Amino acid sequence: MSLVDTLERPVRDLRISVTDRCNFRCVYCMPKEVFGREYRFLERRELLSFEEIERLARAFVRQGVTKIRLTGGEPLVRRDIEHLIELLAQIDGVELTLTTNGSLLPQKAQALRAAGLRRVTVSLDSLDDKVFRSMNDVDFPVRRVLEGIEAAAGAGLSPVKVNMVVKRGVNDQDALPMARHFHGSGHILRFIEYMDVGHTNGWRMDDVVPSAEILAAIDAELPLEPVDPNYAGEVARRWRYRDGGGEIGLISSVTQPFCGGCTRARLSAEGRLFTCLFAVRGHDLRALVRGGVSDPELDEAIAAIWRGRSDRYSELRTAETAALPKVEMSYIGG
Ligand SMILES: C[S@@+](CC[C@H](N)C(=O)[O-])C[C@H]1O[C@@H](n2cnc3c(N)ncnc32)[C@H](O)[C@@H]1O
Ligand code: SF4
Repeated sequence: MSLVDTLERPVRDLRISVTDRCNFRCVYCMPKEVFGREYRFLERRELLSFEEIERLARAFVRQGVTKIRLTGGEPLVRRDIEHLIELLAQIDGVELTLTTNGSLLPQKAQALRAAGLRRVTVSLDSLDDKVFRSMNDVDFPVRRVLEGIEAAAGAGLSPVKVNMVVKRGVNDQDALPMARHFHGSGHILRFIEYMDVGHTNGWRMDDVVPSAEILAAIDAELPLEPVDPNYAGEVARRWRYRDGGGEIGLISSVTQPFCGGCTRARLSAEGRLFTCLFAVRGHDLRALVRGGVSDPELDEAIAAIWRGRSDRYSELRTAETAALPKVEMSYIGG
């Protein structure tokens, strides 16, 4: 019988955070006040090695995972990431992808493609240079992320998905210009509602711009029609331009939670398994792997955790739950 959790959800997607470090300090993710000079990032020996990641990935695939996404922190700052991609690309029946801030794509896109990566998702929150520089808080210009997107597409990592997190009063005015810019480009722009991940970003419901609002604004200028999901459990609602200019996605994690169809497991950079983005505690798989567990024992340990899974945080979210302690996004990966 195939593995399902207490709400009958199988495990299909595995997100692997390969580092908790990042060369950006996005204000909603790694605010400088917290992730400053004094912050203690994981040490190298604490991180899962590439061989340990591969072993765990294969164990998850035996439990039903068909999609693996590398994330972080910024996955491209992990040294020799291409080598990890080579190892994971050899696993049969798995779609391998990666989420990045795009800053290192101009120099890395070709090598990533050659190592076996198929697609990338690039985060970009605004085309307005002033707004973007203040959001990434390291003065990184828009132009270089756009170059990264083109480098990815040029290397065959396409279609490139571009993720924009929308925060009220910060970059909501940039949603429509982003839609205009990527309309007809072959890239797929996706709008993400700002979420109460972690406890460092001071989230408030008022900061969230409901996807419906963005959809209406774009549709008024560039008419849209709905597209069927690619697969069950797809989190982005897909829409396409009626004029053939491509498609966009809306990820409404706050206003239309999708816990019911959530098939994701997350592995932190130090090998903790989280069964929800909003979980407080992870299960230490690194201890098992480093303790000499056999493959059948590892499989059973993962299966037991998944069978007991009952998380549905986003469906229960309120202002009170938002204040509860949670793990940081940069640690667990988006
Ligand atoms: C944590 S980042 C890791 C990968 C890479 N550094 C990047 O920025 O794409 C993954 C995604 O999570 C998104 N993210 C971070 N904090 C968020 C929040 N509070 N709400 C919604 N999305 C968030 C980022 O914008 C990014 O698209
Ligand atoms: S969203 Fe990505 S790029 Fe920005 S701070 Fe978080 S991990 Fe870094």
